[in-house]
Amino acid sequence: MARILITSALPYINGVKHLGNLAGSMLPADVYARAMRLLGHEVLYICATDEHGTPAELAAADAGMAVADYCDKMHDAQRAAGADFKMSYDYFGRSSALSNHEMTQHLAHMLETNGLIEERVSEQVYSNADGRFLPDRYVEGTCPNCGADGARGDQCDSCGKLLDPADLIEPYSAVSGSKDVEIRQTNHLYLKQSDMADRLRAWIDKAEGWPNLAKSIAYKWLDEGLHDRAITRDMKWGIPVAYKGVPRPGFEDKVFYVWFDAPIEYISATKDWADATGHDWQSWWRTDKGADDVTYVEFMGKDNVAFHTLSFPTTLIGSGEPWKLVDRLKAFNWVTWYGGKFSTSQKRGVFMDQALDLAPSDYWRWHLTANAPEGADAGFTFEDFAARINSDLANVLGNFVNRITKYCVGKFDGKVPCPKKYGGGEWGKPEDTLVAELAERLPKLIAYYEAMEFRKAASETRAIWATGNEYLTEAAPWSQYKTDIDQAAIGVRIGLNLVAFFGVIAQPIIPDAAGKILDAMHIPKDNRTWKFGEGDWNERVKAILDALPHGHEISAPEVLFTKIEDADIEEWKQRFGGEG
Ligand code: 2FM
Ligand code: ZN
Repeated sequence: MARILITSALPYINGVKHLGNLAGSMLPADVYARAMRLLGHEVLYICATDEHGTPAELAAADAGMAVADYCDKMHDAQRAAGADFKMSYDYFGRSSALSNHEMTQHLAHMLETNGLIEERVSEQVYSNADGRFLPDRYVEGTCPNCGADGARGDQCDSCGKLLDPADLIEPYSAVSGSKDVEIRQTNHLYLKQSDMADRLRAWIDKAEGWPNLAKSIAYKWLDEGLHDRAITRDMKWGIPVAYKGVPRPGFEDKVFYVWFDAPIEYISATKDWADATGHDWQSWWRTDKGADDVTYVEFMGKDNVAFHTLSFPTTLIGSGEPWKLVDRLKAFNWVTWYGGKFSTSQKRGVFMDQALDLAPSDYWRWHLTANAPEGADAGFTFEDFAARINSDLANVLGNFVNRITKYCVGKFDGKVPCPKKYGGGEWGKPEDTLVAELAERLPKLIAYYEAMEFRKAASETRAIWATGNEYLTEAAPWSQYKTDIDQAAIGVRIGLNLVAFFGVIAQPIIPDAAGKILDAMHIPKDNRTWKFGEGDWNERVKAILDALPHGHEISAPEVLFTKIEDADIEEWKQRFGGEG
């Protein structure tokens, strides 16, 4: 069995994330982690909050809090939101943790030792009113590219161009609004990415598990010529520029850039997990300590691809140490909100802490997986959400489970019909059709999970559930019961085994409902994995359809899914800004 290390891009600390953020990294990583565990692999799923940089400082200032206190509070809020959405992280860390200070300083020191860091003078915006340099989002002004007002120092939201604060026209401080700003010189450490371009290209040429989107983004940057990149900032909040506890001379008032330390937190969080649980972190990250047999899979939004395919690997390769590098990478497009963008300030869209007031986490997990922004942007509307939940979960899965379990309780004492008692009955055409269909679909479902094709995995899951309804309609045990109780018993027995099987395959996407189904079928927690045997799929499916011991007691679960009504949709649209 494989060892699989999974990371999802670290959510910024500045607020609980919206459903688009969830759908584009944390949720698919969780679905994948759950599926791989069920297949028997050893999985380590790591995430954390990304706590440094101007977004953290500015959000803390807005909240009127000290930045460290703000980060404590928001880390707890994000941890709770993740738990509510049933994220099965093995560890949810913090990029501000001491371990990440140490690891970041260590890697910077190694890069410097290897001649890959250079101190350079750069021109930066300085605010006289605030008595400080204004990095990144601290300065706003008119975009030099499109002329929009209110462009941020790091990026213009109107035209999307990445900017340098010094390029803004009529710049002003985002802290005080003061226009009394000037360009001053300041020293920063630059990571010489250009020196690493050939080594990066050689590594990327060999990479096999990357989708085209990721490769093309990486090659585009390489082809345009990799720029050396400042990895320090004039700020107080962040990881001090110090090596082995000693501040680097001239950098006493500076910290590492947030994008330098954030991905390093993948490693540091693993270390914290290992310390907390008595595991060995190096066997996951150091190829000289056993990590060469690890498959490392990263999940992220497409705006993060360059950082994960170029910047972070530059840090790791440039250190000269044997670090594990990404093997497979899954990048997502955006979820759009009624055709536009999610917006915190304009209250458009649903955020993770609000969503569960509207519907249970399984509903969101199902819809956002079935409609994952894979390959292209995916539109979200409450209408689509309701239609999918009502159809897939309530009608297809919920009704099936309900129908057959209630019938068994009513007619067969809530026990899996036993051949000794109802020994007759024969397998016929409905059973053969069912076996043939499942034998085709189940291996496909597993292959979709292995390929990280989540929309297809959801749609195959639904198709498998639908075969159950088709089977019951054809086998019709309720009509058989009147004339041939043995024949009815076969239909009920197969129906109950299908319920258990549907619960087992539902676990990665809708873990709560799956748990309720499997509890109702009285299947012990340690017997819910995807051990489907070996060899011929027809034989394996037949075994699945007769897996429950005869006479085994089951119960009918409480209502699994409540339908979403039109009135709910109308109310939600009012509240969350549907349609403009
Ligand atoms: O884009 C973002 O939301 C970043 N906070 C992602 C960081 S990923 C990693 F490298 F830490
Ligand atoms: Zn612009």
